[in-house]
Amino acid sequence: MSAPRRGRAPNAAGWRRTVPGRLLAGGAGVAVLARCTGGPSALDPHGVRAVQIAADWWGMAIAAAAIWAGVMSLLALALLPRQRGVDQWALAEDYRETPRGGLALVVAGGIVMPVIVLGVLAFVGSRALAAQVTPASPTAFEVDVTGHQFWWEVHYPSQQITTANEIHVPVGQSVQLTLHGADVIHSFWVPQLMGKMDLIPGQTNTTWLRADAPGVYRGQCAEYCGLQHAHMAFLVIADPPDQFAAWAAAQAQPASQPTDPALQDGAQVFARQGCIGCHAIRYGAGDTGGKIGPDLTHLASRGTIAAGTLDNTRGNLGGWIMNSQALKPGNLMPPMPMDGPSLQALLTYLESLK
Ligand code: CUA
Repeated sequence: MSAPRRGRAPNAAGWRRTVPGRLLAGGAGVAVLARCTGGPSALDPHGVRAVQIAADWWGMAIAAAAIWAGVMSLLALALLPRQRGVDQWALAEDYRETPRGGLALVVAGGIVMPVIVLGVLAFVGSRALAAQVTPASPTAFEVDVTGHQFWWEVHYPSQQITTANEIHVPVGQSVQLTLHGADVIHSFWVPQLMGKMDLIPGQTNTTWLRADAPGVYRGQCAEYCGLQHAHMAFLVIADPPDQFAAWAAAQAQPASQPTDPALQDGAQVFARQGCIGCHAIRYGAGDTGGKIGPDLTHLASRGTIAAGTLDNTRGNLGGWIMNSQALKPGNLMPPMPMDGPSLQALLTYLESLK
């Protein structure tokens, strides 16, 4: 066995253990945090609730760093080698043996500090919890959201709108959210706008959100709910109020009965292939179709399909219809193989549902 060589240039892993290496690694961590802007990051808030959560996060991170630095300094002090003939172990021993010296240290470090830190955390946490149910401003309307494996059903009761995987809201207005679970527990989370709230079968949870800047904010199911939990996303689209009103007016309209023969063909494929058993396309008064899958009355107005998994393009839609199991295994939609002309007619019809 060869003796360890001294003075050897450290390898990559060894180098990271050096002081400059650690500083650089820490710097890289800060750089990663700085990158948390632009994506669906809770540290890039665009709504009043998320601003509060981000402030709490930074406060806790800074406090934790300060406590860590304090503890590490004490540890370093204790581990310093003997210097100039001073025996620190003997000094520590002397201190411990002075009346009350050890006790004071235990009370300060073991009782006073934790009570202060946990007290502040409890206050911050309770404030964040209270904010979940107390809107910052009166809510403009209600949006009813039901979590399914693996998609989001969305209703606007007062506007008579039914959609899926997309929630439009007017900028600057608080919106009440009423949350249900259809099958298992899901969790509604829009990191840039709000914290998480579970959707629980048999229970109604309420919360709210407010977007303070226009934009498209990605939301995500935040409770593991099955194989495609990760592909259970949605979009919150914050529009200026007039744009939101135009969207709401269009969504409240029923689908128009196809008069074009090509579209009529597609509607027939929709019925013949059995799509209608699970999906509704609403024409006027009576609902047409099933309620198991997303409502398709305004499918073509949505940006994505399969709960944020794919862009809503003709090609993706075709692939999804023919074999959605290849794209999102375990979702409830069975493969729907059909001949080319039928598929093209169906796609043309679906793309007309604006
Ligand atoms: Cu729904 Cu995870």
